[in-house]
Amino acid sequence: MRIPIIAANWKMHKTVPEARAYLERLVKLAGRDPGVEVAVFPSFTALPAAAEILRGTSIALGAQDAHPEPAGAYTGAVSVAQVADLSVRYVLCGHSERRKLFGEDDLLVGRKVRAALDHGLAPILCVGETLDERRAGRAWEVVERQLDRGLSSVGDDPDGLVIAYEPVWAIGTGVAAQPADAQEMANRIRSWLRDRFGASGGEVRIQYGGSVNPNNARAFLSLPDVAGALVGGASLDPDAFWAIVHAVRT
Ligand code: PGA
Repeated sequence: MRIPIIAANWKMHKTVPEARAYLERLVKLAGRDPGVEVAVFPSFTALPAAAEILRGTSIALGAQDAHPEPAGAYTGAVSVAQVADLSVRYVLCGHSERRKLFGEDDLLVGRKVRAALDHGLAPILCVGETLDERRAGRAWEVVERQLDRGLSSVGDDPDGLVIAYEPVWAIGTGVAAQPADAQEMANRIRSWLRDRFGASGGEVRIQYGGSVNPNNARAFLSLPDVAGALVGGASLDPDAFWAIVHAVRT
């Protein structure tokens, strides 16, 4: 039984007071919530306040990124070891914005995955093709390469790993994938995970991400190989985000 994970990726949004107000509202909405895992990914600056507000609740905390080196001369970077201090459970690894805007390659993404596991955190490895790659019939080739390299340093046990399938062209555009296409890709990812990890590959949760909103969430969350969503824009309002969480519970 795969417990769906619905994650709010705030990206570069919200000051600390705004983060506090959001999370106080979310905690009120959430109450007791068996059966669905909810995780919030604030900016680094809001992580300490978020950890304090979410302590003792069922809502998990995640970091949008983290550097694999534990410490050192990496001006501006924040390490996995540093976020692990803050009651963080998840780390996004290789979000397409990190790959595209910050030049991250598969090798670095793989090191982030490894570092997260080494610190007892669960990596969410983000994979997905661009529109050109999809049009050229190369979507699976790209996703397979991202899986292969991103997980190259993971042993036989996927150990808390989550995969987020996010077609790049669907992120922040308001144009979500067709649910059938998301299912087809999630199913190929599932087969790949089974080949790579055996039976425990069947337990790895695969999220869909890319323009998920309260109206389309149910279509994605009811797909057989999808167990959760990674939500950007529609997660910035706690009530809208909660409507997405609700879609999986009903
Ligand atoms: P979006 O972002 O929901 O705004 O498309 C998703 C993501 O980047 O994780």
